[in-house]
Amino acid sequence: MQWKSTNSLFAKIFAAFWLLIALLISALILLPQLDSRQLQPIKTAGSELILYQSSKLTSLLDKNPLLGSRSILRLLANNNDSDQHTEVFLTDTTGHLINATAPRKIRQFMLDSQSPQKPLQKINTYKTYYGPRLLVHNQHEYLIYISTPNQKKSLELVEWLLDNPLLLIFTGILVTMPICAFFAWHLTLPLRQLRIISTKVARGELDIPFPEIKNSDEFTMLAKSMQLMVRSLKNMLNNQQRLLSDISHELRSPLTRLTLAVAITKKHTGDTKELQRIELEAERMEQMIAEMLNLSQIQLHQAKKEDLALDDFLEDLFLDAQFEANEYSKTFSYPTLSKVSINIYPELAYRAIENIIRNAIKYAKQQISVKIHITPHTITLTISNDGPLIPEKELDNIFRPFYRLNESRERETGGAGLGLSIAENAIFKHGGKIWADNLGNQVSMHLQFPRFN
Ligand SMILES: Nc1ncnc2c1ncn2[C@@H]1O[C@H](COP(=O)(O)OP(=O)(O)OP(=O)(O)O)[C@@H](O)[C@H]1O
Ligand SMILES: [Mg+2]
Repeated sequence: MQWKSTNSLFAKIFAAFWLLIALLISALILLPQLDSRQLQPIKTAGSELILYQSSKLTSLLDKNPLLGSRSILRLLANNNDSDQHTEVFLTDTTGHLINATAPRKIRQFMLDSQSPQKPLQKINTYKTYYGPRLLVHNQHEYLIYISTPNQKKSLELVEWLLDNPLLLIFTGILVTMPICAFFAWHLTLPLRQLRIISTKVARGELDIPFPEIKNSDEFTMLAKSMQLMVRSLKNMLNNQQRLLSDISHELRSPLTRLTLAVAITKKHTGDTKELQRIELEAERMEQMIAEMLNLSQIQLHQAKKEDLALDDFLEDLFLDAQFEANEYSKTFSYPTLSKVSINIYPELAYRAIENIIRNAIKYAKQQISVKIHITPHTITLTISNDGPLIPEKELDNIFRPFYRLNESRERETGGAGLGLSIAENAIFKHGGKIWADNLGNQVSMHLQFPRFN
């Protein structure tokens, strides 16, 4: 775990969760307090209102000093001329209501607010209540409460939200979503960069430059170890390919000497069955070495990809194939080629397709056909031929180097068993796919190229 930097992934995730939870708790505590409809200390306007009513009542009482509580109320009712909407309620100091009736809500308010030292106010849907205020008359103490219609017509946003929990949830989602989305996007940015790189590495692009990941310690470390991994992978591959290519080269000289010795022996002793056999095997070894060199060249291939029109690229290849098939009295058919462009290593793609076509011609009984399927991102060539099918369990094996289905039969037809391996390597270099299947009574080889880089 990396504690050193506040920029580390650990610190960021920790801070984000902690902040979010702290915000939620604060919102839960603060929101109801923002609701002005809560029971709260009386504001100036309310104090003035209750003061006005109480002094009005006091001046009335001063004129009629001997009135009892019931009469006070009657007096009050008769004098409610200008401010008919303001209602006055009286209780004695024990909280006993003096008015004949009072709505349930103000009775509740009277229970909640009983101290004239700390008068409160409460806003309800239509009315606002204030009180109490102490009134002394005729040696009796009264508590005075008033109820006025609400001044504000509409509710404040907070109150409106508190009254509609669904809307409150929706607003919460709306506010937090972009923040969380940005945070998640920001955190995963280096991961996405690394994913792009690892896809390219998987395609064999080992020379790819690594982006500088500055804002996260963990990802920077991951990027560094990936870089190390790619470097050692490159070294290993280079060593292996160099070995393959060196062996092939080294094998060539003794082989040439062997062929020469056979030719000299033939001259001295005449041609024999054994010498013919040695010659044939030497030829095969020669061919194998050539193909092995081919394979190592593909793996070490460093050229750049090019954008080519499909018809320019394939037309000649298919015409040659048609010619070759005719030589063996077989038919090779292909569809009209379109002008769509494809991003490839021309030499590698050419070799891949050529190897597949050569197999198809070799193993076909009569017919070879090509189909091309184009999607916005891929171009798939399907080369099918009649002839012996490939057993299902061998469909993957045939791509292994030196793998041949029928060792003894194919020994006679020649072939090192490297053709499909060469094609597979070339397609992988493009980031494409190659696979075989038996469709109907045909063997089909599918070569899928990505269209763009
Ligand atoms: N179109 C096909 N129909 C039937 N079998 C096939 C077809 N293509 C390949 N195979 C089988 O897969 C094996 C491997 O093919 P691959 O091209 O690698 O080797 P090869 O053709 O024998 O030799 P090379 O291509 O090196 O000259 C072949 O030996 C053959 O048995
Ligand atoms: Mg082949």
